[in-house]
Amino acid sequence: MRQKQKTKNGIITRFGVSIEQRLLESFDMLIYKKGYINRSEAIRDIMRDQLVEFDQTDDDKEMVGTINLVYQHGLKALAEKISELEHHNHDHIISTLHIHLDEDRCFETLVVKGKVSNIKSISDKLIGIKGVINGKLTLCTQGDRFM
Ligand code: NI
Repeated sequence: MRQKQKTKNGIITRFGVSIEQRLLESFDMLIYKKGYINRSEAIRDIMRDQLVEFDQTDDDKEMVGTINLVYQHGLKALAEKISELEHHNHDHIISTLHIHLDEDRCFETLVVKGKVSNIKSISDKLIGIKGVINGKLTLCTQGDRFM
C-alpha cells in the first residue's frame, strides 16, 4: 500500500518493501556505521547514487564533476600537453587547482561541466598523457531530477 504526503519539496510517497531478515540486519549495520539516522535517508542516497551512475552511461547527459591528476613535475613536454588540453577545453573546464605535492610531483584537480561524452573525452586524454601517475574522473548530477 502506498501513502502520499505533500511537502515543500514535492510529494513524498511511503511504500512497503519485502526483504530477507539477514539482508535487512546487514543493511541496518551498514547504515548505522555510516551515521544515517534512519533507513529512508540511506535508501534515498542509494537510489540517487544508482541514478547518477546510470546517468554516466548517457553521453548527452549534462553533469558536473572533477578530474584529479597526480603527475610528475619537471617534465616540460608533459606540463605543456596538460596546459594545451586545458586551454583547448576551456568551455568545459570551469576551474583548476594546482598543488605542488613535493619536489617531484604535482596534484591538479579540474572542475568540469558539460555533456558526459565531452567530459569523458577530456578526462581520457589528460589521464592518458605520459607522466600522469594517477588520474580519476568523478561525475555528479546537477541535481535537477533529485529534488
Ligand atoms: Ni606543481
